[in-house]
Amino acid sequence: CGGTLVAARLFLTAAHCATDPAFDPIPPVSAIVALGEVDLNAVTADDLYAVAAVEVHDDFNSPGALSNDVALLTLTRPAPFAPLPLVGADEIELWDPGTESTIAGWGTTSYDGEPSDVLLEAEVPITSDADCEGAYGEDFDGTTMVCAGDGEHDTCQGDSGGPLMVRNGSGAFVLVGVTSWGFGCADPDFPGVYTRLGAPALNSWVRTRLPTSPPPPSPPPPSPPPPAPPPPAPP
Ligand code: ARG
Repeated sequence: CGGTLVAARLFLTAAHCATDPAFDPIPPVSAIVALGEVDLNAVTADDLYAVAAVEVHDDFNSPGALSNDVALLTLTRPAPFAPLPLVGADEIELWDPGTESTIAGWGTTSYDGEPSDVLLEAEVPITSDADCEGAYGEDFDGTTMVCAGDGEHDTCQGDSGGPLMVRNGSGAFVLVGVTSWGFGCADPDFPGVYTRLGAPALNSWVRTRLPTSPPPPSPPPPSPPPPAPPPPAPP
C-alpha cells in the first residue's frame, strides 16, 4: 500500500490497508512506513518509520463496502518532508468532473501484473458521480467516494492508500482522494474509485486530526500618535 504524509508525524492511507481480515485496525507494531525514496531498492533503515498508533475511520465499510476508506498512522518520529495539504471542504470546484488529477504508486502495472520498483505516476480526469454510478451502481457511494480514470491509465493492486491529487489556484498539489478500489485496472468501462476527502464529513475527520497550526503572530501595538506641532508663534 501507499500513503501520503499529511503532517510531520501523520501518514494517511486507506482503511483497508490498515485493517486485518476481521476489519479491525492492525497493531501499530505490525505497520512500517518508508518515506523519501522513489526506488524501493534504495530504501535504507533511515527511510523507515515505526508506527505508534493506527486510527481507522469508525464508519469504514458503512454504509457500504469500502466506504470511508481512510486511516491515519502516527509515526514515532517526525519526517523531514513537506506534508501534502488536504483539499478544503469548500474547494469542490478544484476537482470538478473532467479536472486532470495525478495518481501515484508502486502497484502493479496491469491487473494480475507485476508491481513496480520505482514510483509511477499518471494523470487521469475526475469522473462525474453520475458516470461512476453508471459503472458501479449501488457499490458507488457518492458521499464517501469519487472516481477518476481515462480507461488507459489507472491505479491498480498495491497502489491503495496512495494519493489522488489536483492542483489548486497557485498550481500546488492538494490531496483530494485516497486510492481505494476498482473493477480490474484501466478498464474503459470502470474508473478507479478513491476516498472522497473533499466530502464535508471525511474532510473534517482528517482535518480535526491534523496538528493545529500555531496562531498568527499578534499585530504590533498601535504606535503613539505623533507629537502635535507647536502652536504658531504670535506675529
Ligand atoms: N484495492 C487496490 C489496492 O489495495 C487498489 C485498486 C485500484 N483499482 C483501480 N482499478 N483503480 O491496492
